[in-house]
Amino acid sequence: MMTNRPVWIDTDTGVDDAFALVSAFKLPNIEVVGVSACAGNVELEKTFKNARNVLSLCGKEDIKVYKGSEKPLVVELHTAKHVHGEDGLGGIEIPQSNAKVEEESAFDALYKKAKELNGELTIVAIGPLTNIAITLFKYPDLVKYVKELVIMGGSIAVGGNTTIAAEFNIYVDPHAAQTIFKSGMKITLFPLDVTMKTVLNREEIDSLKDVYNKVAQFLYKASAIPMSLYERLGLGYKMCLHDTCPLLYLSDPTLFKGREAGVYVETQSEISLGRTLSDLYVHRDELFDKNALVMIDVDRDRVAKLVIDTFKAY
Ligand code: RIB
Ligand code: CA
Repeated sequence: MMTNRPVWIDTDTGVDDAFALVSAFKLPNIEVVGVSACAGNVELEKTFKNARNVLSLCGKEDIKVYKGSEKPLVVELHTAKHVHGEDGLGGIEIPQSNAKVEEESAFDALYKKAKELNGELTIVAIGPLTNIAITLFKYPDLVKYVKELVIMGGSIAVGGNTTIAAEFNIYVDPHAAQTIFKSGMKITLFPLDVTMKTVLNREEIDSLKDVYNKVAQFLYKASAIPMSLYERLGLGYKMCLHDTCPLLYLSDPTLFKGREAGVYVETQSEISLGRTLSDLYVHRDELFDKNALVMIDVDRDRVAKLVIDTFKAY
């Protein structure tokens, strides 16, 4: 039995996914035992390559990276190159990984690991939920082998970041997301409501300039595109740690606050496609079954210090 909690990360490796991966390897109480790439911020070939290269930059080439689905279950792939750059990592040079390229699919590898750990594996999904849904279709008993699925995705009361209604990860594959919310897995959700409060401000990001290791230098440069986009949108020069939230939570649950709620994904409507509907703020229990612990608040200052400390530790 492992002393740290074993975690599998499924990622569409863009800039904030890179922040999450880098943090995951240094945070206490968790141990990354596998990584899979999905299509999302950019195409699968690029997210796969980015995940491999970020792991290599962190000296973690021993952790295997697997390739998942090239496209969402039903809809066409929608990318976010205006946020993450054409290559997904802000166009910043990163050394190429020398790790062996894994041929096994993400679906088979994830299921195998979950079974091997016999109910102890936690999955962290920080991209569209396509890979997790396909694994579930292929291996319906996955549910009994997963301790918890912690998702960055959706928005309950703050509107979307991709359409007026929808957050990116859920918008890109709403059918996969709805499959997951109906699956019966134990789900903890980090919607934009909390991830947009989990920010590094200009001063904190600038402090990375003086951290002389290649990981911190890479993150500092890669954060430029998303931060200037935020500024142009009038949201301030800051970096949201969307994808790092689930990992921070698993490392130290006291950083966040949330409530059990029902979550449902809109898959029919054109204008609201990918919207996450929830009874979180509605006192009518009959609306949905409570299927997720939905996070709504964060101790931002503790998070910022913890995250910067992990970057300094490289
Ligand atoms: O919506 C936030 C999500 O979109 C994150 O998973 C992030 O990678 C982003 O691009
Ligand atoms: Ca992501």
